[in-house]
Amino acid sequence: TDLDRFVSGLPKAELHLHIEGSLEPELMFALATRNGITLPYADVEALRAAYDFSNLQDFLDIYYQGAGVLQTEADFRDLALAYFDRAAADHVTHAEIFFDPQTHTDRGLPFSVAIEGLLAGMAEAEARHGITSKLILCFLRHLSEAEAFKTLEQAEPWLDRIAGVGLDSSEIGHPPEKFARVFAAAAAKGLKLVAHAGEEGPPAYVHEALDILRIDRLDHGNRALEDAVLTTRLAREGMTLTVCPLSNLKLCVVPEMAGHPIERMLGAGLRATINSDDPAYFGGYVNDNYRAIAANGVLTKADFATLARNSFLGSFLDDEAVTKQI
Ligand code: HPA
Ligand code: ZN
Repeated sequence: TDLDRFVSGLPKAELHLHIEGSLEPELMFALATRNGITLPYADVEALRAAYDFSNLQDFLDIYYQGAGVLQTEADFRDLALAYFDRAAADHVTHAEIFFDPQTHTDRGLPFSVAIEGLLAGMAEAEARHGITSKLILCFLRHLSEAEAFKTLEQAEPWLDRIAGVGLDSSEIGHPPEKFARVFAAAAAKGLKLVAHAGEEGPPAYVHEALDILRIDRLDHGNRALEDAVLTTRLAREGMTLTVCPLSNLKLCVVPEMAGHPIERMLGAGLRATINSDDPAYFGGYVNDNYRAIAANGVLTKADFATLARNSFLGSFLDDEAVTKQI
């Protein structure tokens, strides 16, 4: 449709993308072969068929297993390049990508392997497509505070190439407050702060992310809408929400795409953005997410232009770079 063409062609930033979640089944099998690893699936079709999730944890179990094929810097570089090629095709001009170092160090890889490979892929993507990018280190919230501190320490040699820290993995039972001290330490090092909150967890977790972690940007935030005072506050403070429609559908955070909360978020004056989260697992890249919302027939071209503009306003680009993009 005309609206599909319009939303697809908008220059946009992607602010919520787990690079390990961009590992397509084809690349997973290729890397398994390259590294002499046997996957517990007969082929790409059998693997894709397993991507049928009832909740966040169902997905995480299969996502951490899939990441096991990533063994060398070249693997991480190839992973990143595959994502940026795909993102560039969707008119993404800037991406702020998450990586989960603990997923890799816990299986014996040195911290350097993932980050050096990703940085190489980011540099090559900028040369190839002109796409700029930043890296956000996520702590796995199902692991301990001590393990998060150890990860932050391991990152020390690369701090000038890391834009910020985030918080992901199993939300319920692992409130933001658990990471208060490690986030304070990251802030003291000059890092930006983001956290997943209000995806499955209650509005109270969004409050903690704001008041205890002092985040610069909120990942998901859907359940903030259950709290009118919180919603008003997020709007007043100009907080950016990185919303992920296809992820929400696949993880049963929403029952259907119709009436997706992003429509109410824009109505409430929230600075919402559209993102793909884990595109290889959730059925689409950023433009698929824009088109899925467009298909609801509620938001207008002006709304989608706002969403794309929000993605640059909510990015960690400096003001001059933002002005050039919007
Ligand atoms: N939520 C929490 N953890 C994650 C996600 C998500 O959507 N994707 C990858 N890790
Ligand atoms: Zn996420």
